[in-house]
Amino acid sequence: MASLGVNIDHIANVREARKTVEPDPVPMALLAELGGADGITVHLREDRRHIQDRDLELLRQTVRSRLNLEMAATSEMLAIALKISPDMVTLVPEKREEVTTEGGLDVVNQQSHLSEMINELKLESIPVSLFIDPLSPQIEASSKVGANWIELHTGSYAEASWQNRQLQLSRLIEATARATCLGLRVNSGHGLTYQNVEPIASIKDMEELNIGHSIISRALAVGLRQAVREMKDLIRNPRNSNSLG
Ligand code: PXP
Repeated sequence: MASLGVNIDHIANVREARKTVEPDPVPMALLAELGGADGITVHLREDRRHIQDRDLELLRQTVRSRLNLEMAATSEMLAIALKISPDMVTLVPEKREEVTTEGGLDVVNQQSHLSEMINELKLESIPVSLFIDPLSPQIEASSKVGANWIELHTGSYAEASWQNRQLQLSRLIEATARATCLGLRVNSGHGLTYQNVEPIASIKDMEELNIGHSIISRALAVGLRQAVREMKDLIRNPRNSNSLG
């Protein structure tokens, strides 16, 4: 059964829209945990557009589930991760002009840089996940550079037309199987919603789903604790398990 990592960046997005002190993602993380979050994910971006260094420091002290730090593979971020010591680092590509993380990391073409970074994190007992597209060369390169986990980018599945969705789902199922064979552990995320999460939650060996936008949006109507509980229920008891998983 997959677990749920709740991405709380959007709470900080609302705060930063006014450059004020509320809403504060730190106490909100506790509400997500009370709703059943198995982990809290935040992305500290180079431009600090939502999560701030102060949030990360306080979350490290208050999160009692698991703190997953998403970050770019830069020396600035490496120093922060080594100082904060999150429970996991997920390396993601980052572009200043993007609204959210767009594609997966190109692991194939950055193997020596990534393996050095992964080594430094692992030496401090911080496991590393790589956010990648569900493509065999990227999965194989992730294994070669020593990642513990991959996080499969579910954007193409989430955005697929109804006709194309099964194909995208099959790619995620095959990618999960390939990664597991290579000894990698597998998470997924991006664009997952209350409507499309169940087939992904049913994939064999899928360990954790990282979900942000949909949960934070629903929280406006029902509160964060309830929104997390509803998503967790779908992940634990998916109604329409996928035929191939
Ligand atoms: N996983 C990664 C690596 C991400 O960058 C994001 C977006 O911040 C998510 C998961 C969550 O995506 P969404 O907000 O679409 O649920």
